[in-house]
Amino acid sequence: MITRQTDTAPGQNVPGPPGIPLLGSALDLRRDLLATFEEAHRRYGDVVRFSAGPPGLRIVMYAVFSPEGARHVLTGTGQRYTKGNLFYRETAAMLGDGLLTSEGECWQRQKRFIQPLFTRRRVAGYVEVMAEETAALLDRWHTAAQHGATVDAAGDMMHLTLAVIGRVLFGEDLNTVTPALREALPVVSAHALRRSQSPLRFPASWPTPANRRAGRAQRQLYDIVKGIIDRRRATNTASEDLLSLLLRARDPDALGADTLDEAEVRDQALVFLLAGHETTATALTFALHLLGRHPDVQQRVRVEAEQVLGSGDQEPTAERITALAYTTQVVKEAMRLYPPAYVIGRQIPEGDVIDGYHLPPGADVLVSPWVTHRHPRVWEQPQRFDPDRFTPKQEKQRHSYAYLPFGGGPRACIGQYFSMLEATLATASIVRAFGLHAPPGPVPLITGITLRPAGQVPLTLVPQSPHPGLH
Ligand code: HEM
Repeated sequence: MITRQTDTAPGQNVPGPPGIPLLGSALDLRRDLLATFEEAHRRYGDVVRFSAGPPGLRIVMYAVFSPEGARHVLTGTGQRYTKGNLFYRETAAMLGDGLLTSEGECWQRQKRFIQPLFTRRRVAGYVEVMAEETAALLDRWHTAAQHGATVDAAGDMMHLTLAVIGRVLFGEDLNTVTPALREALPVVSAHALRRSQSPLRFPASWPTPANRRAGRAQRQLYDIVKGIIDRRRATNTASEDLLSLLLRARDPDALGADTLDEAEVRDQALVFLLAGHETTATALTFALHLLGRHPDVQQRVRVEAEQVLGSGDQEPTAERITALAYTTQVVKEAMRLYPPAYVIGRQIPEGDVIDGYHLPPGADVLVSPWVTHRHPRVWEQPQRFDPDRFTPKQEKQRHSYAYLPFGGGPRACIGQYFSMLEATLATASIVRAFGLHAPPGPVPLITGITLRPAGQVPLTLVPQSPHPGLH
């Protein structure tokens, strides 16, 4: 690899926007992070240096846009690259040190406990919950469609995915805690994000209004999970939900002696809630919106859904959902254009060389699925919605890190199979039941912890046949 280091300090020779005096690129990044990244990629190439904030409080970060660079960063995690960046530190402060944020020995130990709960066989067992919650959504939408109403895909998909992961985690206990979860989760995640982006942060222990509000929401979440754990222990029922499995889990390497303590179980449960619902909701929302704009693609999905799922007589199983090959391609293409994890952050304690550029010790590095999924070297007409990019043949021909909605390397998403099953089943079931129409024009976006629609995403529904139901 050529080293472009000259006699300047590491990082200084990496090209990047100068931004405005004093603030650097802070305003551009805040106004439109995605467009700022795309523009920087066009102008400066595959490794770009951004600086934001006033001198003294300046945040410097390096964005890496090529598939090769993304692979270098993500497969190096756990060795040269860490999750020591601000975002992950703030998330851990709010939600504890679960699988998403922990590192080193701690992460390895957790992974040994949790991996067996996400095998294909285990996840296949959650399809029943996914199917029941999808059926409940279709019921609500049939009522709405009778009155000629337009539904909000964004809100309804959030509702669906929280119900699914909540029931998988907490079983029937979910019903009692749903309102509190819906209230508290966004408060803690928004607080973590705001703190990680702000150059000036008061210590978390200071009683500022924001810290107090987030502290209250955090206690609320802790109490919810503790309440459910206590009830489980008191009744001693052998539930098969994820929380019970976590409580019973044994470290396979410790000959069955080691278990997760209560705080560890709670932290894992909160991470699954956080990582597992907004992401899948975004994927589904955009899949439905894009189908609403592309009737030809929608019709192909409908034909496939009718063939594979029948008209309600075929019980959906993981095997059947996997047979929904074209619908799976649609979900993948929706996540190419709108990757819920639009950036993935790391830190390099000792510095590194990427694409010939020396990055200094302690540098914050961002991989950007949003930009890599539009990289003109890989994707022809990247703005076009075209699910045929994901035929097995096309997928095999591409760089394995050209498409990375679930990250990669040792820290890749543990819920990938779970969310693909959920999103594919819901998409096929919805399109089998309704014709979808979406208004033209772009959907305004928010770059929060995940990429989300900024407001409602309207869909007009036309019932396709008498309500078939799923069973
Ligand atoms: C469309 C849906 C989803 C997307 C786009 C997504 C995306 C991601 C990405 C990009 C990462 C890697 C983060 C990094 O490297 O820093 C990740 C990790 C993770 N995801 Fe997901 N995720 C989704 C669904 C889920 C679900 C349903 C669950 C749980 C049920 C889940 C749990 C996790 C966990 C625990 C990790 C950390 C894994 C580790 O570090 O070992 N995710 N996810």
